[in-house]
Amino acid sequence: MNAKKTKKIVVLATGGTIAGLTDDLSAPHNYQAGQVEVNALMTDVNTGGIDWVSEQLAQVDSKDMSFALWQQLLERTQHWLDQDDVQGVVITHGTDTVEETAYFLQTVLSPNKPVAITCAMLPANAPDSDGPANLEEAMSWVQRHDVFGVSLVCAGHVHPGDAVQKLHSQQRNPFVTVQSTSTHLPWGIPSVEDVLSVRAWPRVEIVLNHTGADGRLVRALCAHDAPDGWVVAGTGNGTLHHDLEAALREAQAHGMRVVRASRCAMGGVQSRKGDVFEHAGSLTPVQARVALILELIKEKAAQ
Ligand code: SIN
Repeated sequence: MNAKKTKKIVVLATGGTIAGLTDDLSAPHNYQAGQVEVNALMTDVNTGGIDWVSEQLAQVDSKDMSFALWQQLLERTQHWLDQDDVQGVVITHGTDTVEETAYFLQTVLSPNKPVAITCAMLPANAPDSDGPANLEEAMSWVQRHDVFGVSLVCAGHVHPGDAVQKLHSQQRNPFVTVQSTSTHLPWGIPSVEDVLSVRAWPRVEIVLNHTGADGRLVRALCAHDAPDGWVVAGTGNGTLHHDLEAALREAQAHGMRVVRASRCAMGGVQSRKGDVFEHAGSLTPVQARVALILELIKEKAAQ
């Protein structure tokens, strides 16, 4: 993989199954994420003699990923990428929300060095754990001199950080690359400094269109604890039940941003005649939520 051994790699650890432990080797899907320290994980990895340093930023199951940890990850990633003697950064993360973190980091940082996020579907002490091989691949990826940007490295595949989705809940290879990342929204991207200085993150909720969808959930939340925005995961090309659409129009009239995406795994949404909401283009609903949060941060920073 075009390895060069002059610069060091930084490994930032956040937890996940890759650092998980099971106490029942016959049923490794019963485990606790975020148990094994990063330096212990690295002992199973053939680093090819390259210099590396690590930081244990957290030990979370990524279902509990927080904006505070995103800020920490952003700050540490940028810090290390800015060092001349650093070739690239590897991040260990749980698979469950990694697509959100990858989208966030790629969008805000757009780094000109490689950042490889990696993960595992089986805990570290499972006999056939996929973690060591994934970590080794991520270490190799960031040693290449022809790659840059945030990628997700898992099960022999490399996905662009801003176009990856977890599609399978069990397989060792659970990710797919979604649509081309070239469809950019006309939304603002805040600077790293803007993101690091946020104390109260904008609140954007996701709501789903489905049979019998009505606007009650949206109206109830708007009446009691209104968010700053909504992403609606519509059916097909982002179509909405008329009651849900009416409730979201009311939310929009009260100043909330509403973005229309699709609950379909592939294809995104296209603009339609008579559109009343902004549409998310190729972004998945969770990516659109991150994009809207970033847009709202940018807007606030400009005030
Ligand atoms: C997590 O996302 O932290 C747990 C699940 C996983 O890593 O596969």
